[in-house]
Amino acid sequence: MNRRAIVAANWKMNGSLALVNSMVSELNNVTLNENVEVVVCPSFPYLAAFSIASSNVNLPTAFSLGAQNLSEHAKGAFTGEVSTSMLQEFGVNYVIVGHSERRSIYKETSTLVAQKIKAALAAGLQPILCIGESEDERVAEQTNVVLAAQLQPVIDEIGIEKFADVVVAYEPVWAIGTGKTASPEMAQTTHQFIREFIAKIDESVAVKVPLLYGGSVNATNCEELFAQADIDGGLIGGASLKAEEFKIICSAAKG
Ligand code: 13P
Repeated sequence: MNRRAIVAANWKMNGSLALVNSMVSELNNVTLNENVEVVVCPSFPYLAAFSIASSNVNLPTAFSLGAQNLSEHAKGAFTGEVSTSMLQEFGVNYVIVGHSERRSIYKETSTLVAQKIKAALAAGLQPILCIGESEDERVAEQTNVVLAAQLQPVIDEIGIEKFADVVVAYEPVWAIGTGKTASPEMAQTTHQFIREFIAKIDESVAVKVPLLYGGSVNATNCEELFAQADIDGGLIGGASLKAEEFKIICSAAKG
């Protein structure tokens, strides 16, 4: 089965209006393989500008807009939070949930992450669920235990059928922003574990879920990473801020 592949740009707290405009016009002439989607996730204030700029140039439907976070609540007295309906008003289709920076810096627990995934799905947004182990956990050979503990609460919260609409991004924390990428073999072994973990609950869901790799992906290593059987694209940080490099990564993905 040919799974869809996704290359998602996580701009984190970077970027500007100028980058929004230049990225949209650069993306308008990138060549994508069949079954590949590109998702750009700028900070909240730039979502509207990205949406307008992409409709001005008629960006093809393979390009989507994503947010980096969402509230688990629908509305109300939650200062500083952003709801699913607000995101949808600005043409957002995807949302990153549970990024390791939110888990470690903002203390988001796997229970909260599961609630956010539930809120996203209920609104028709596609969540990109981030999971990954720290360096200490990998050294202690706890990687699979950690990943299972991050996946299970989401499956318990939403049920396995709905998990078919989740995109999983495996991002080893030690590879984020460090230039230390997991080797293609190591990434594949971990992706295979994730797919088998889901398959033990429901094989038909496991074959559908796109599994993205994230952590120091760049124009040089993307080809080999994306060639792995269970790697269906990437979640790109630093390299997604440079249009030329990001375009190479987008074109390397295969559905
Ligand atoms: P880098 O590509 O900068 O390592 O960041 C990865 C990441 O955290 C994407 O969500």
